[in-house]
Amino acid sequence: PRSWLGIINRYRDRLPLCGNSINITLLEGNTPLIPSLKLSRISGKDLNVYFKYEGLNPTASFKDRGMVVAMTKALEQKKQIVICASTGNTAASAAAYAARADLKCFVFLPQGKIALGKLSQAMIHGAEIVEVEGNFDDTMRLVIKLASLKPEIELVNSVNPSRIEGQKTAAFEICDTLGDAPDYHILPVGNAGNITAYWKGYKEYYESKLSKKLPQMLGFQAEGAAPIVQGRIIENPTTIASAIRIGNPASWKGALEAARESAGCIGAVSDSEIIEAYRFLAYQEGIFVEPASAVSVAGFLKACKQDLIRPHSTVVLTLTGHGLKDPSFTESCFSSFPRHQILPSIEKALKIVEGTKQ
Ligand code: F0G
Repeated sequence: PRSWLGIINRYRDRLPLCGNSINITLLEGNTPLIPSLKLSRISGKDLNVYFKYEGLNPTASFKDRGMVVAMTKALEQKKQIVICASTGNTAASAAAYAARADLKCFVFLPQGKIALGKLSQAMIHGAEIVEVEGNFDDTMRLVIKLASLKPEIELVNSVNPSRIEGQKTAAFEICDTLGDAPDYHILPVGNAGNITAYWKGYKEYYESKLSKKLPQMLGFQAEGAAPIVQGRIIENPTTIASAIRIGNPASWKGALEAARESAGCIGAVSDSEIIEAYRFLAYQEGIFVEPASAVSVAGFLKACKQDLIRPHSTVVLTLTGHGLKDPSFTESCFSSFPRHQILPSIEKALKIVEGTKQ
């Protein structure tokens, strides 16, 4: 079998790169499209539900697809410095690819609001970490201004079109695997780059006749951080899903376009719905994701309740990041889970095992 060589190698003809730059791939992409065993039954609608598990990318989130393209482009343009604002995953990915590309990387993070796994990644890959007293939106504004003042700096947030180009490949992979686009695509919305990217990817495949239909795009925000749903900037966004704690998304327009053009919608789910979905995925499907990723499942369940999904449909849910990104959240959520503590005694061990039989 031909081995996987990364998204640039696989989809080069659909990416805006000149092709003579060094290859910095970490073999990102080609993530599994895992059939859900439980969600279809729960919905009672005879659906084919799949998880696009982006937590299995090299830095454990979907950001790697966009980052490999943005970083390759930065090299082509002889940039020396890359910067980003981030709730964590963009920073982790930027730091890893910058290490590979020998580019100087500065990541600007809202202070105290980054999950431990993501912060560790940015540190170990050697990014310069700048903690900003403020939220993500303040931090985003700052880096946009900074990049505009210094031409040698490449901004690698999703306002950079190369990021969107790279991330659209997830839609290609889904169509390649299913043989067509799904009927519905559901994903979390934070800065709104990813929904913009998926919609672009689906449209390109459809226009090239590589798929016969277009999916309805259903994007979900967290209720306390739902500017698109509410139609106004949220000054102090709040949600346990730190990755999408964003009050003024950079690709707001892209998200609205995706929803409108696809006859989809942008909705919101509550933190308790997110936590329930987070636990469900791990407990019932064996898939560990970070809280923001569980928004896809919470959104799916909500869409089913609201009768937004036709029976016999194919539905894809993107799981954007791995659960190990945010172990502190798991611990804080489930610290009261019962644990057995025993001496190394066979009687005690037997008692426990026999006790859980019923
Ligand atoms: N899920 C995860 C795990 C994320 O890290 C993000 C965004 C999203 C969903 C939302 O995607 O912004 O394209 O709408 N994380 C960004 C970051 C903001 O800085 O890592 P989006």
